[in-house]
Amino acid sequence: MAGIGNLSFLQEAIALGVIAPEFSRTAPELAPLQGFTGSEAFDARDLRVEGRLPAGLRGVYYRNGPGLMARGGERYKHWFDGDGLVQAWTFGGDGVQHKARFVQTKKFRAETKAGRFLLPAFGTSFADQASRLAVRAADDVNTANTSVMKMADGRLYALWEGGSAYELDAASLSAKGPRAWSDELAGMPFSAHPKVEADGTVWNFGTQSGQMVVYQISPQGQVLRSEVFAAPGPCAMVHDFAVSQRYLVFLLSPIGMDMAALRAGDSMLDSMRWLGQESTLVLVIDKADFTRRWVLETPAAMVFHFGNAWDDGAQIHLDYVEAPPLPGVNEKLRQIMAGVRPAQQTHLTSSPRFMRIRLGSEGAGASGLSRGHIELQSRDESVEFPVVDPRVVAQRYRHVYYPTAIDVGERWGFNGLMHLDIETGRRERFSFGNDVVVEEHVLVPKPGSSKEGEGWLLGLGYDCKVRRSFASVFDAQALSAGPLARVWLPYWVTYGFHGKFYAV
Ligand SMILES: [Fe+2]
Repeated sequence: MAGIGNLSFLQEAIALGVIAPEFSRTAPELAPLQGFTGSEAFDARDLRVEGRLPAGLRGVYYRNGPGLMARGGERYKHWFDGDGLVQAWTFGGDGVQHKARFVQTKKFRAETKAGRFLLPAFGTSFADQASRLAVRAADDVNTANTSVMKMADGRLYALWEGGSAYELDAASLSAKGPRAWSDELAGMPFSAHPKVEADGTVWNFGTQSGQMVVYQISPQGQVLRSEVFAAPGPCAMVHDFAVSQRYLVFLLSPIGMDMAALRAGDSMLDSMRWLGQESTLVLVIDKADFTRRWVLETPAAMVFHFGNAWDDGAQIHLDYVEAPPLPGVNEKLRQIMAGVRPAQQTHLTSSPRFMRIRLGSEGAGASGLSRGHIELQSRDESVEFPVVDPRVVAQRYRHVYYPTAIDVGERWGFNGLMHLDIETGRRERFSFGNDVVVEEHVLVPKPGSSKEGEGWLLGLGYDCKVRRSFASVFDAQALSAGPLARVWLPYWVTYGFHGKFYAV
C-alpha cells in the first residue's frame, strides 16, 4: 500500500478506499452507503477463508447493487438511485477470487465524462434539469443496479426494473449494451425479478406508463411469447411478481402518480402518492394464454418481494414480504443515504414481514379465482429479500430464507438469517451480532442432491468493526449452527440488492 504522508494507518486505508470511511459518526453500519467514485475496479485473489468452504461449492456468485452515490459535489437522495456495481465471487479449486465493476451504461459513461450528474434518478431530481440531459427513453436513465441473470446461452445481464436488461461480459464484467429481446420489444422494461424455472424457462414483466408487458423467454434467450396490455390498476411501482405452475401473479399496490408534481420537477418517487384507503389489486394471468387474466382485491399493502408460488389449478398459494407503506419506507431509505440512522419503530407495520396468501376457491377450478376468495396469514419477524431453492421456482415448496433482524437495537439493517418452513411454521435463525449487516443469501443446491433445501446459503455481509465485507456460507439445513465459512475481502464494498449463483 502506498504511503500518504503522515496519515495514520486507518486514515491511509480509508483514503485508499480499502476500509469504509466514517460516513456517519453515529451509525457505522451506514458507512458502505457513502459509495464509490466510479473509477474503482476491484480485483482480489486468494481471499482469506475463515472456517472451511464446502468442496462442492464451485461456481460464480454475481451480485448487483448501487455503488456510486455522488458526483461533482451532488449526492443522490435515495439508495435505489446509485449506479450499478456488479460483483463476481468465483469459488473454485484454487480458492476464492473477487471482481467488481461499475456497469458502463450509457448514463454512467456520459456522467463520468462530464464529471457530474446529467440525468434524474428514481428518488433524485435536479432543479436545473433543463441545463442537463433530456430523458427521451427509459434506457437513458437505466442504472442497471438491481440484480443479475445469466442464461443458459452463457450471457450475463445486469437488471433494473425500469428499462432493458444490460448485457455484460460474464468474465470481465464489461458492458456490451442493452438487450432487445425482439425488434418490437426493444427498449421495453424488463424487471429485475425474472423467475427462472428449473428447466431454464424465464418469465418476466415490465411496467411503463400504465402499461404492462409479460414475457416468456427460452433458456437460450428467444422470446417464446409476450403480451402488452393496459394495467388493470396502478402500476407505478411493481417491483416483483410470483409464478406458479399455471399462473403469473402480481400485487398492484395502491400508489398513484401525481403527474402535476412530476411535471413540476419532482422525482418519480416524490410524485408517488400512497392511496391507503384503496385496495391492492391481485392480477392473475394464465401462463398458457396471457389474454386470460383475473383481478381480485386485498387490503392496501406495499410489496417489494415475493418468495415463491404454487397452485393446484383451483387455488394459488404464495408468500411475499409486506413492506411498510409509502412514504415511510422511502423516508427511511432517504435517511440512511444522508448518514442518519432511522428512528426505530416497533409497531408491526413499520417493519417488513412475512405474508402468505391463498387465492381462489377449493374445487372451483380456475373460475374460482374470479370469486375473489383470499386468505392472508402473517408473521411478526422483520425480514426481507426472500429466496427459495432454485429447483422449486413455480413448484410446490416449503422453505424460504431471509435476512432478518434479531435484537438489533437502534442500528439499521439486518444482522441475522432466518429459514422458515412455511408448512410447519418452524423457523431456524442465526445472528451475527450487532456489528454485522447481513444481505440477501441465496440457496445453492448441493451437487448430486435433489431434495428441496439440500444446499448452502451464500450471501454477503459487512462487519462494521473491521470495516470490511465478506461472503458467508451456511449449511441451509443447519442454519443455527453458524457459517461453515466466511470469506473476507481485503476491502469493503457497497451494499447490494440481489445476486445469483451459477455452478460450474
Ligand atoms: Fe428486489
